Amino acid sequence: MRKYAIIGVGHVGSTIAYTLVCQEIADELILIDKNEKKARAEQLDLQDAQARLDSHTTIKMNDYSELADTDILFVTSGNIHALDHASGNRWAEFEYTREIVQDIAPKIKNSGFNGVIIDVMNPCDCITYYLQQATGLPANQVLGTGTFLDTARMQKVVGENFNVDPKNVTGYTLGEHGESQFVAWSTVSVNGLPIEQLAEERGLDLTELESQARGGGWAVHSGKGYTSYAIATCAVKLSRAVLDDANLACPCSCYSDKYNTYVGHPAIIGKTGIVEALRLPITDEEEEKLAQSAGFIREKFETLPT
Ligand code: 2OP
Repeated sequence: MRKYAIIGVGHVGSTIAYTLVCQEIADELILIDKNEKKARAEQLDLQDAQARLDSHTTIKMNDYSELADTDILFVTSGNIHALDHASGNRWAEFEYTREIVQDIAPKIKNSGFNGVIIDVMNPCDCITYYLQQATGLPANQVLGTGTFLDTARMQKVVGENFNVDPKNVTGYTLGEHGESQFVAWSTVSVNGLPIEQLAEERGLDLTELESQARGGGWAVHSGKGYTSYAIATCAVKLSRAVLDDANLACPCSCYSDKYNTYVGHPAIIGKTGIVEALRLPITDEEEEKLAQSAGFIREKFETLPT
């Protein structure tokens, strides 16, 4: 029995719900939103889809007590109107999302929830850390999508340049799910070959590819006003790794002992959430970038009320 819940059924939350239902992996799905009408409409629409699917998902709404035996809780609330694609600044949502945390954390806590939270809210790393602290759940049970999405965008950009499927591109974008993120090129391979060597042979500018990948979200945002499909696949993939107990290595926002904050770095994802945070051999220059990005997140975290 796989029980999922989503807090916030706007563009991202409803796309996650649709993905779960279409992938036929959720036995039960709880939709929670302050906008009762919207939550009800999403419930009805997904219920209407059941007749054409091979599996059945029971869809309920707006009941925090349902979280008591929920396995995976996605938190996706956001204020798309605050985001400004021209400035590329996810921190514009900070005030809104920290209030969301203050509102929902006690409700999550009081429900007796003891599953894994996958947080999508922005600014992802800082808000996920705040959510973990506010719910009091162990750090391994609270993770953020973080640079899993930025890594997917890097894989796309590299894949296009080398004319390969993005899945043939491995490696990591690290740091903040924000402007201080960076691609750790020393970890990136195309069809198993190190990209730095391939790029040199082809005269490809990796800095240019990195900036395209970093701006990927804003390219989408500037056209439709939000992003939804890619982030939904990231969130659902992380949830599957938990429920399948897959021990999948992927970058996400999780607690780092070294930097004393949540920050995007590779981890093993399995039944307990973060099974292990990985320490990758990266170059000194990459270490420095990661330390700077983590330091920035930590500084912002310290401005939050306890
Ligand atoms: C994204 O990168 C805006 O954080 C959101 O798609």
